[in-house]
Amino acid sequence: MVVDDSPEFTGTVERFLEGKGYRVIVCRDGRSALSRLIQEGPEIVLLDLDLPDISGRELLPQIKKINPQISVVVVTGLGTGEMTVELMKGGAVDFLSKPVQLDSLLSAVKNALKLREASIDERRIEGLPTLESFFPFLAHEIRNPLHAIGGALAVIQRRSNLEDEPLAQSIRIIGEEVQHLNEFVQECLDFVRPVDTNYFVDINVNEVLSLVLNITQHINQETTRPILITTDLDPQLPPVFANYEEIKKAFLNIVKNSCEAMSDRGEKLKICTRFLPKPPSGWIEIVFSDQGAGIKKANLDKIFTPFFTTKVKGTGLGLAICHRIIVERHQGIILVESAEGQGTRFIVQLPLKEENSVISS
Ligand SMILES: Nc1ncnc2c1ncn2[C@@H]1O[C@H](COP(=O)(O)OP(=O)(O)O)[C@@H](O)[C@H]1O
Ligand SMILES: [Mg+2]
Repeated sequence: MVVDDSPEFTGTVERFLEGKGYRVIVCRDGRSALSRLIQEGPEIVLLDLDLPDISGRELLPQIKKINPQISVVVVTGLGTGEMTVELMKGGAVDFLSKPVQLDSLLSAVKNALKLREASIDERRIEGLPTLESFFPFLAHEIRNPLHAIGGALAVIQRRSNLEDEPLAQSIRIIGEEVQHLNEFVQECLDFVRPVDTNYFVDINVNEVLSLVLNITQHINQETTRPILITTDLDPQLPPVFANYEEIKKAFLNIVKNSCEAMSDRGEKLKICTRFLPKPPSGWIEIVFSDQGAGIKKANLDKIFTPFFTTKVKGTGLGLAICHRIIVERHQGIILVESAEGQGTRFIVQLPLKEENSVISS
């Protein structure tokens, strides 16, 4: 848009820029410029400071108010001198003085377009929702149809002749995939959800472990994999100040991995708890030792990375969630020792609150 009251100037600019493939809108005064600005949404405004009604200086902030992404190039016959700084602060990106050289006009227009694109890109990034804030919304949108699919599948299953093997198999596949997607969404949610410190209470880690083992036995029954789990829990273990649900989830993820790493040849998972007299107020330690497949040396430093998995249907989020819960949210430590083919040992340590300290009492 060229805003200038000189027909000679606007005529020249219009012919020149149209010859270069631009569409040009000509306005002879400030008021018509403002109304056409709204209607036509130009990308660049070439603005004369000396207009018959509103001065270009007053017009500039109004243009920027209508659309901050419009690049304004000030064109003037007056020496702008000290006004330049003010105009630049007001958002003018370039200055041209009359008589305008056509090649400098063209480069000013090209430059203004580039600046405009850059500012749009920046806003795009600023306005982009973070994964953390966007995911719960996405999860909701995925889970609702998944629930519906699961429900409808149950009806189909009840009413179908399951002796028809291909049909039964198809139903099974849909069911498994729905469950897999549900678990994946849940794990992503667990990963991005901020911790609720309102739910920090004194918890007995031995009790949490017993519950985790109950849940695990239940899952193992379903998959018909007899996994032997033994425990050696310190009955004197002091309580830790923690979020019960989160600690449960972290332990469950570790135990689940161990079960998945063991084939059906009667390997064992052993879980031990004990008090550690480590400063400042003492810690508790939970050790999970399995006799499963173990972890390749090259993978040892990758297993806590989100989405790292060696499993066909893995999400790679289980240990990333553990790390978030134990290290970031409970200021604990999680270590892994493993040798391929010989099993894996996860060591979790949680610091005690001063009141719960066994050392000082
Ligand atoms: N107890 C274990 N024994 C062997 N490998 C393990 C064990 N725990 C974790 N891993 C390895 O770490 C990877 C990441 O684990 P995790 O974050 O829970 O994701 P996922 O279980 O979905 O693969 C696994 O794919 C596996 O390679
Ligand atoms: Mg896992």
